Amino acid sequence: MVFFSARIPHEPGDGAYARPLTARRRARVDALLRRRIAERIPLPYLTHRAFFAGLELYVDTRVLVPRSPIAELALQRFRPWAAARRVRRILDIGTGSGAIALACAMAFPRALIDAVDISPAALQVCRRNVRKFDLTKQVRVLRSDHFDAVRGCRYDIIVSNPPYVGRAEMRRLPREYRHEPALGLSSGADGLDSVRAIFADARRHLNDDGILVVEVGNTEGTLLRAYPRLPFIWPDIAMGGGGVFLLRATDLEKASGG
Ligand SMILES: C[S@@+](CC[C@H](N)C(=O)[O-])C[C@H]1O[C@@H](n2cnc3c(N)ncnc32)[C@H](O)[C@@H]1O
Repeated sequence: MVFFSARIPHEPGDGAYARPLTARRRARVDALLRRRIAERIPLPYLTHRAFFAGLELYVDTRVLVPRSPIAELALQRFRPWAAARRVRRILDIGTGSGAIALACAMAFPRALIDAVDISPAALQVCRRNVRKFDLTKQVRVLRSDHFDAVRGCRYDIIVSNPPYVGRAEMRRLPREYRHEPALGLSSGADGLDSVRAIFADARRHLNDDGILVVEVGNTEGTLLRAYPRLPFIWPDIAMGGGGVFLLRATDLEKASGG
């Protein structure tokens, strides 16, 4: 917040800490802090910027604040599970701000990315970010209910941070989350509605050596109980967070049986 108000870069050099804050900028920090505390507004909605996989994105309340641990996997080009040099097409389902799609575009400059979301409002933000990084030729932004707009397309990687909060947990969420679009969080009684929709169609949209990468956060236990036969891979995330699984295309055939 101080960095933002003082216009200090996100990753400042040593000298930045010695720079005095002017009275005007201090007042700005105070005003932001007051809103953050009193209204419980997440900071990125106050500053309209969020950092994801080294990218500075525009955000507002039309999109979830990007924070998926998938950032780290994208930076590592989903190795060792993806044949990184052969990746040509990637689908990001529920792209929101476009964070994961853009991280993928940077990590795989030769791949075409489809960034889809059901929310037209979220897609406005996504388009703004795609333009910001001058990636309109590499990233296609589409309104889509899961796979609806990409019927017939096949991908090397399907990635998603879908909504995955169950009904009971929705009621218990801290106030900060209420500033985020419910469409980005809520997913049926047990939180798995979106994951089920992805499982239903992912195999036919993946190449044979493709992978599916999905964040489910703390809905991991519910998922494991619902799909006891699926050989989920849960990568370690060094930067913190977790609850992201990978599945190979060939293993997805077992998803239909639950
Ligand atoms: C948890 S947010 C993730 C946003 C972004 N990918 C990120 O990681 O910051 C989930 C996103 O899925 C979108 N979504 C919800 N239901 C969807 C559906 N049926 N089809 C496509 N997108 C959906 C929401 O609008 C929201 O943008």
